[in-house]
Amino acid sequence: MVASKLVVASLIQIRPLTCAASSYPARLVSQPPDLVKWVKREGGFVHRAVTISHDSTYGLGLVASQHIPKGSDLIVIPDHVPLRFQSEGGDDPADSILANLARRIPEELWAMKLGLKLLQERAKVGSFWWPYISNLPETYSVPIFFSGEDIKNLQYAPFLYQVNKRCRFLLEFEREVKSSLENVKSDDHPFGGQAVDASSLGWAMSAVSSRAFRLHDKKLPDGSREDVPMMLPLIDMCNHSFNPNARIIQEQDAGNSKMLIKVVAEMDIEHSDPLLLNYGGLSNDLFLLDYGFVIPSNAYDLVELKYDGALMDAASMAAGVSSTNFSSPAPWQQDLLSQLNLTGEAQNLKVSLGGPEIVEGRLLAALRALLTSDMESVQKQDLNTLKSLSAEAPLGIANEVAVFRTIIALCVIALEHFPTKIMDDEAILKQGISASSELAIQYRIQKKSVIIDVMSDLTRRVRLLSSKETTSS
Ligand SMILES: *[C@@H]1O[C@H](CO)[C@@H](O)[C@H](O)[C@H]1NC(C)=O
Ligand SMILES: *[C@@H]1O[C@H](CO)[C@@H](O)[C@H](O)[C@H]1NC(C)=O
Ligand SMILES: *[C@@H]1O[C@H](CO)[C@@H](O)[C@H](O)[C@H]1NC(C)=O
Repeated sequence: MVASKLVVASLIQIRPLTCAASSYPARLVSQPPDLVKWVKREGGFVHRAVTISHDSTYGLGLVASQHIPKGSDLIVIPDHVPLRFQSEGGDDPADSILANLARRIPEELWAMKLGLKLLQERAKVGSFWWPYISNLPETYSVPIFFSGEDIKNLQYAPFLYQVNKRCRFLLEFEREVKSSLENVKSDDHPFGGQAVDASSLGWAMSAVSSRAFRLHDKKLPDGSREDVPMMLPLIDMCNHSFNPNARIIQEQDAGNSKMLIKVVAEMDIEHSDPLLLNYGGLSNDLFLLDYGFVIPSNAYDLVELKYDGALMDAASMAAGVSSTNFSSPAPWQQDLLSQLNLTGEAQNLKVSLGGPEIVEGRLLAALRALLTSDMESVQKQDLNTLKSLSAEAPLGIANEVAVFRTIIALCVIALEHFPTKIMDDEAILKQGISASSELAIQYRIQKKSVIIDVMSDLTRRVRLLSSKETTSS
């Protein structure tokens, strides 16, 4: 077996793109071992019609080489094949260094924790997982590896904040890793004496975030199982779809009590269809941050804004709604804002538009209650009704129309915050740009589309309500 070496790519700084749009990213070694054979040799099963494809448009993935009937097992991997982070790993000094480092990783960056294990195995000569690791892509299209220019190209502040937070974490964590490895003997070194920097940490975090699954693994004292992230060799080559043709299930092996992880066909799969799993109802922020792609017309995508009295006054004024009190709510309105956590101790001013809810319930309820002076009818309503878009005009049609017009004006304000319009973005995409610029621009087009979709949805509702008002009067 070949000793692996950590790739050093430059983080944040501009870096030539190794993955041009037309070719799939290189793998860690140029002729990696056959993953299908390895899985079978380890006691797993791979359906004979499941093949690894190196398609230049789809990249690396799994496709069916012939018809596969619904219900068939596609891939089965035994319990010892997934790569997990096991912190209870005995008294090996290298493992305890790793466990100490893992404790400094915030929970939301769990991918970095498993990433430490991945780096350890990547550096280990003769690692059991080398046939898997050597097949991993050498680079990832996630934004922590974007140039500064392409990070700016994303144009959307809440996401820039997330990306910068990850970059800052990696740079800080690099220092922590370096200092905790300073005086470690080479026998006890978790990475076989190799230097680890922010780039290799970023590689490992992205390899995990883009491929790991959270499955029930650890048995808790009450007999239930805890979700544990793990890397599933071969299975992780299935791409995402909201209409998947395959699904992961876990089963107890009949022969022993170990877990088997299976991918089964959810429907008939035809020749040359890619195998697709649903990664979950995620926003484009998470798809881009963790997986490095953006889903067009993603029904789970959201736009975040900050609830702020002055902004709401500006929006309702722009919408032509008279007498607004967002900046100085009456005491009973203040109470409601506090129940909605838009003020007070548990204050959370982040509200969202888009996604399945279209308008976040807390924002909707606040607008409904602040655009009326009728305290009694507000207090007659239950909070969940005030928060629900499907509750029809709970405070009357005039109030509902004022609320929707205010949100439409908020959307206009939000769109004005983007330096470019969708038309400009589409013109730039036609110019032939790097793969990461393309991703950044696709991302911002989708954010703007979320806002535009909310506007047209609410415009339709205003029209409907207005026609009801005229017919009933
Ligand atoms: C995986 O799916 C996403 C979303 O459909 C797509 O953007 C991406 O190119 C696909 N990746 C591969 C390797 O097929
Ligand atoms: C407000 O915050 C509290 C504490 O975090 C939470 O229990 C409650 O559900 C929140 N209310 C709403 C309407 O989000
Ligand atoms: C706005 O505030 C004033 C004074 O507190 C009050 O008289 C008025 O009814 C409020 N208007 C609305 C729409 O809540």
